[in-house]
Amino acid sequence: MSQNQTALIIGAHSDMARAIANQLASEGYNLQLAARNAQARLARSATDLILRHQGEVNCLELDVAATDSHADFIEQLTPLPDVVVCVAGVMPDQQSAEQDYALAKLMIDTNYAGVVSLFEGLAPRMASRGTGCLVGISSVAGDRGRQKNYIYGSTKAALTTYLSGLRNRLASKGVHVITVKPGFVNTAMTEGMDLPEKLTAEASEVALDISKAIQKQRNIIYSKPIWRLVMLVIKHIPEFIFKKLDI
Ligand SMILES: NC(=O)c1ccc[n+]([C@@H]2O[C@H](COP(=O)([O-])OP(=O)(O)OC[C@H]3O[C@@H](n4cnc5c(N)ncnc54)[C@H](OP(=O)(O)O)[C@@H]3O)[C@@H](O)[C@H]2O)c1
Repeated sequence: MSQNQTALIIGAHSDMARAIANQLASEGYNLQLAARNAQARLARSATDLILRHQGEVNCLELDVAATDSHADFIEQLTPLPDVVVCVAGVMPDQQSAEQDYALAKLMIDTNYAGVVSLFEGLAPRMASRGTGCLVGISSVAGDRGRQKNYIYGSTKAALTTYLSGLRNRLASKGVHVITVKPGFVNTAMTEGMDLPEKLTAEASEVALDISKAIQKQRNIIYSKPIWRLVMLVIKHIPEFIFKKLDI
């Protein structure tokens, strides 16, 4: 149990975030739930979490892409959380993003730049305290660029590299950094997609994997774990073959 520990969940309105909130609250964490239009949209989830798990739940306003607001957001966090999970992300359609740079930029700003801004603000505070855990949700899409989603994938590749460096920087300061690489997950983001059942996780499975990773101080996890093998194979396809594949 993690009594008296606090977890901040960023992008708290999503299916995955709700599952993570439920999992961590069931383990005794108090929660800080951050999202856009937080008070209006999170009040019901917060009440439900309090009734079910009896911990404290606070709803905080945050736009991950609005980096100018991040210093004030971090300053008001009371207490400084023990665990931070950044779930926020966007994945507009690849072809639309090829034609409209604003969509590509939205992915860069939300999936990468916004997370860097938040984690860079949180890292020195956790390091001076000497404890903390930062969890970034990357994606298997960042392991190799494919024509069908390489703009989204490249923002996740950048995030994966960022988290690797941050983990290296903070390892001696008592702060742990976890990279989560989900494959397919049944959420609003993948609604309407024809996903292979055996390779598709439910949000609750990802939440459980994240909880175990926090407890065991894992560095990089794939969810479902089979994706580690799938991506190992995909990463090793020679480029002269890979560039001819329609994937
Ligand atoms: N689903 C998958 O198959 C899959 C696979 C690999 C990785 N992932 C990653 O997993 C994470 C969660 O995805 P999901 O599947 O749960 O997607 P989702 O249901 O679309 O949720 C994404 C969440 O991000 C929030 N968000 C987007 N832009 C934001 C911003 N500027 N500020 C604050 N919050 C913002 C959204 O908030 P609003 O409600 O305010 O829009 C939404 O709650 C994402 O990082 C995604 O890239 C998902």
